[in-house]
Amino acid sequence: MTTDFQAPPTGPDAKVSTTDTGAPAPSDQFSLSVGADGPLLLHDFHFVNQMAHFDRERVPERVVHAKGGGAFGVFETTADVSHLTKAAMFQPGVKTEMLARFSTVAGEIGSADTVRDPRGFSLKFYTSEGNWDLVGNNTPIFFVRDPMKFPHFIRTQKRQPDSGLQDWNMRWDFWTLSPESAHQVTYLMGDRGIPRTWRHMQGYGSHTYLWVNAEGVRSWVKFNFHSDQGVENLSNEEGAQTAATDPDAHRRDLFDSIAAGDFPSWTLKVQVMPYEDAKTYRINPFDLTKVWPRGDYPEIEVGRMTLNRNPENHFAQIEQAAFEPSALVPGIGFSPDKMLLGRVFSYADTHRHRIGANYHQLPVNRPKVEVNTYEFDGPMRVDFNPGQPTYYPNTVGGPEVKDDLFADTGWEADGAFVRQAYTLREDDDDFSQANAMVNQVFDADQRNRLAETVASTLGTVRPDIKERVFDYWRSIDKAVGDHIAELAADPSVEAHGPAPASDDPDTPVNKQVEVDKT
Ligand code: HEM
Repeated sequence: MTTDFQAPPTGPDAKVSTTDTGAPAPSDQFSLSVGADGPLLLHDFHFVNQMAHFDRERVPERVVHAKGGGAFGVFETTADVSHLTKAAMFQPGVKTEMLARFSTVAGEIGSADTVRDPRGFSLKFYTSEGNWDLVGNNTPIFFVRDPMKFPHFIRTQKRQPDSGLQDWNMRWDFWTLSPESAHQVTYLMGDRGIPRTWRHMQGYGSHTYLWVNAEGVRSWVKFNFHSDQGVENLSNEEGAQTAATDPDAHRRDLFDSIAAGDFPSWTLKVQVMPYEDAKTYRINPFDLTKVWPRGDYPEIEVGRMTLNRNPENHFAQIEQAAFEPSALVPGIGFSPDKMLLGRVFSYADTHRHRIGANYHQLPVNRPKVEVNTYEFDGPMRVDFNPGQPTYYPNTVGGPEVKDDLFADTGWEADGAFVRQAYTLREDDDDFSQANAMVNQVFDADQRNRLAETVASTLGTVRPDIKERVFDYWRSIDKAVGDHIAELAADPSVEAHGPAPASDDPDTPVNKQVEVDKT
């Protein structure tokens, strides 16, 4: 179900086609020539403008998460969490307009939706205190814990410089040399690696953020969005089949559902850690490769987001949407998660390149509150405050900072300059949570499918990297690693019977890890 191009008025009642400058267009069919068989005339300004504009129809695609789709909706705070945050949108009963965009990570703008890849879960809330963007994924963790490694990781997901081909050698080479990736790679290779639709997946803010209440009391918080449609996934075969027959399946599903009045919704639950706990918790709570077990920090329901309005123009409202973790509102702060801090720079920077210096002024990105910044001019500037001076301090009525409402969103830090991603704590290791997922979340069939999926990626992988892949999985779970090695040795061998849960005493099963089965 898409735009009905036959909708009236057509024929004699149709609107008048115009030039860029609003005059009636001379023709939308024929360029001006010297006689019907002769050369074209440069002064056919309407033709020249049509061509010149066409030549500029694209903006660069996103460097990651290029393929996606989205919709508008509303978030309603249904519970009372005012003792935890003073953010206006989280006060009881408040409804906030919002935009969501879902995406794959690695593929280009026209690539298939149903591939094995994490999914982006980007949210822009147009709050009464300015925009708040939560730019997360459908997984609660990530492949690396230091932002220095992010561009390197992404290049392994993209294409070889010579052949222009994607290559599992790059991926496994990087992952096996980056053991902190084990948890996310297990998630990716498991059943949730290919969501059935965007409506049937969870969304996670992933990072730890800070909440501050009206008294200035701080807590650490994680945002988890639970799909009210339930979680459903595709098998490898279903994913491949759909990619071949309908590469835009996920974009289509979201658009059609909303057009049919079947509005998808997600319930927001948060995990809250008292500020002081972070100093002594057994896992570093800011490390993006780890979850906070819900046994330690149970979820609290906050509200519901419902997507109920399709874009009217995909390019203007989705392609030019600029999500940025740096868009914060009072009552919400960053945390010492180094990945989050790295992202705070990257998004606004890429928007200036991808869309332009004044990307905030596009309707989809513009806050629904008055903007009184001293930022001035620049390409395509359309918004301005008449009479406002361009400098501060001034005595001519420029805007003033009344209170620094972000003053309470900091934390204490001290130490020498080092290059090290966190100090290790009691339960900080790279494999325990991946092991818990394999053994406590996955059943025997899921472990089998995991092994088959991994083995199916190894056909073209260099023998020495392949050996490292087996060891990487043995570090997660000895039995799963052995099973992958066995399948990879003879790809025709079908997995018979379930992969047993490991009883190897060396396997780092961490009994304290309680896992997210929802
Ligand atoms: C998109 C950088 C980590 C989720 C992007 C874009 C950049 C970027 C440059 C393109 C934005 C655009 O053109 O509009 C980074 C860097 C990271 C990082 C430098 C780490 C240091 C993450 C993590 C998550 C994430 C950990 C999820 C938890 C997303 C999503 C998008 C995106 C969902 C798509 C935004 C949209 O829908 O427009 N990232 N990223 N990224 N990233 Fe990241």
